[in-house]
Amino acid sequence: MAVHLPCLPVLLFVFLAVHVPVTHADPPLPSTYDVSMCSESFSCGVVEIRYPFYLANATEATADYSGNFSCGYTDLSISCKLEGQTWIPTIRLDGDDYTVDTISYHYDHQTILLVDSDVLGGAGGDCPAVRHEVSFNGTWLHSSSYNDNLTFLFGCDPRGPVPPECDAYKINCTQFKSPPGAGPGDSFVVVMTDENDRYLEQELATKCGNTMVVTVPVRGDVLMAASYNKSNFTSGGYGGVLKRGFELEWSRITGTADGCHLCEASNGQCAYSQNREFLGCLCHGGKAGSPDCEHIVPATASTATASRKSS
Ligand SMILES: *[C@@H]1O[C@H](CO)[C@@H](O)[C@H](O)[C@H]1NC(C)=O
Ligand SMILES: *[C@@H]1O[C@H](CO)[C@@H](O)[C@H](O)[C@H]1NC(C)=O
Ligand SMILES: *[C@@H]1O[C@H](CO)[C@@H](O)[C@H](O)[C@H]1NC(C)=O
Ligand SMILES: *[C@@H]1O[C@H](CO)[C@@H](O)[C@H](O)[C@H]1NC(C)=O
Ligand SMILES: *[C@@H]1O[C@H](CO)[C@@H](O)[C@H](O)[C@H]1NC(C)=O
Ligand SMILES: *[C@@H]1O[C@H](CO)[C@@H](O)[C@H](O)[C@H]1NC(C)=O
Ligand SMILES: *[C@@H]1O[C@H](CO)[C@@H](O)[C@H](O)[C@H]1NC(C)=O
Repeated sequence: MAVHLPCLPVLLFVFLAVHVPVTHADPPLPSTYDVSMCSESFSCGVVEIRYPFYLANATEATADYSGNFSCGYTDLSISCKLEGQTWIPTIRLDGDDYTVDTISYHYDHQTILLVDSDVLGGAGGDCPAVRHEVSFNGTWLHSSSYNDNLTFLFGCDPRGPVPPECDAYKINCTQFKSPPGAGPGDSFVVVMTDENDRYLEQELATKCGNTMVVTVPVRGDVLMAASYNKSNFTSGGYGGVLKRGFELEWSRITGTADGCHLCEASNGQCAYSQNREFLGCLCHGGKAGSPDCEHIVPATASTATASRKSS
């Protein structure tokens, strides 16, 4: 459809998109907000959810406000659901769900430990299959050097003899099932710790013409311990490693770009839109500030906005 658009409107659109200030894209914050909605701290099972993380259900639009705002950094939205007897916190990254194991809020160790929710789902028993790589937007979340990679080759369709050394990497579990999209052939799990592993992974990738390759991060220390026992790694040891999860670091990288640092310095909580735009500051007593709590949004401004919208 876009292909048939004449050039001029497209150029005009690009021009406007570049020149319209971003603050116009999302409505600014209302002058007041419901403090109980953006509570400072909340326990979900054993995990403490604290700003800049926030509960996913705390983003609903309020009556006098047409947009959405988050009570923290957009991507750090945690859903808390009761499963059986246990409250389970999950975070969604690029469309995939991860169970939150722990969050560290220490100022020089801001990390979150996550486990792919598919892996905890129980399918495959000791030998679960990962269905996707881990991807996320880098605005607030970053990879951790604490992780190592585990590479899977699912459904190998050999085009020529597979080197016999590769047998040691074959997943060997009766309950194992390849993920959707993979062929019916053998599957392999490779720990990329040395040159030999890298070489064999390349060999497999070349010899298995039709194979689905998925690389996921796992905790380096856990992987190290488990891969010592090569004899049971492929028959369930790797599943134990996946279930221990991987680590991401969280922080803001935009630094002073959007006013959030001013808000936080004034003891406020930054509110963001779904598009990751800074909307304003959630301050003490349910008042909003812009950009910080030294500059409280006057109630009249919001009333004017609300009445303009409703008329
Ligand atoms: C959000 O969910 C939590 C846990 O399920 C619940 O305790 C809280 O009351 C909910 N908040 C809102 C605003 O619905
Ligand atoms: C508010 O956010 C939710 C997702 O969290 C979305 O489904 C909904 O369309 C948003 N509403 C507005 C008015 O942007
Ligand atoms: C991350 O989000 C920002 C803000 O929405 C956006 O500009 C950027 O393109 C995103 N990065 C990726 C890799 O999607
Ligand atoms: C893991 O793999 C990713 C790409 O899939 C790569 O960027 C990263 O450097 C690897 N990490 C380690 C520790 O090898
Ligand atoms: C696969 O598992 C079976 C039973 O646990 C074992 O006898 C066999 O040696 C294993 N094969 C490989 C290649 O590890
Ligand atoms: C490795 O795992 C196998 C199977 O679980 C077990 O019999 C063996 O004792 C383990 N070896 C070591 C050194 O832990
Ligand atoms: C693998 O071996 C280790 C060490 O003996 C043991 O702790 C672990 O339970 C074994 N895992 C499986 C799936 O057999």
